[in-house]
Amino acid sequence: MWEYSEKVLDHYRNPRNVGKIDNADLIGEAGSLACGDSLKLYLKLDGNKIIDAKFQTFGCGSAVASSSMLTEMIIGKTLDEAKKITNKDIADELDGLPQEKMHCSVMGQEALEDALKKYYGEGSYSSNSIKTEDKIVCTCFNVTENQIWEAIKINNLKTVEEVTNYTKAGGACGRCKGTIKDILETYWRKQGVQPELTPTQKILKINKVIEQQISPELQKDGGDVEFIDLEGNKVKVKLTGMCSGCKNATMTIKSFVESILKDKVDSNLEVEQV
Ligand code: FES
Repeated sequence: MWEYSEKVLDHYRNPRNVGKIDNADLIGEAGSLACGDSLKLYLKLDGNKIIDAKFQTFGCGSAVASSSMLTEMIIGKTLDEAKKITNKDIADELDGLPQEKMHCSVMGQEALEDALKKYYGEGSYSSNSIKTEDKIVCTCFNVTENQIWEAIKINNLKTVEEVTNYTKAGGACGRCKGTIKDILETYWRKQGVQPELTPTQKILKINKVIEQQISPELQKDGGDVEFIDLEGNKVKVKLTGMCSGCKNATMTIKSFVESILKDKVDSNLEVEQV
């Protein structure tokens, strides 16, 4: 079962600022009842300062605790200060949330952003009011590409499972998992980071590079190389044909085979002959 911090339990058992503000200056919404979690955040302003905040939520204990903590964090802040609050800040203030419940802190951040974007005139992008240029990736939970992208960026997410924990996307039928993976790869490629391959993906890629780029070159001199195994980052290969008895075998392995595999598959690979 999940472990909850004392702060989460406290805010769940004694939620602060529950309810509605009549004549609220801003209202932000996130989630939807159909998806099992929803949050409505009411803000009262004095100039650009938040002097009161209340919430109504439908969801689990973590959703209640996240919403409660959020209201405490924003009361007394200017809108510019509140704009900087991320889901990670909400979770940190609660002394952490179980990974599987991080989506509750994301819902808090989205409701706040929904309210603030109305104020700043940028429109709303919560799942209840999707921007036309945004597109829904997960139809089960109504999660958009922008929401997934933001969750990856703010929380440094690396896997589809983490994205599911933070946004719920992918947590039902799973049809959207391929698209989530593509978004993850695009995001990390833009940061100059190659996506981490699973051992199976690595083996498939090594074989493809050998077949398409390495073998054709060696075959020109009557030789070839055969993939044998992968152990961690050690690639075991066997030189064949003219290459098998070649006195430059070590150089062929290191300067040619290894250097191409490092460049095309993973810079940590080391190639050895068996
Ligand atoms: S479409 Fe995302 S879980 Fe079903």
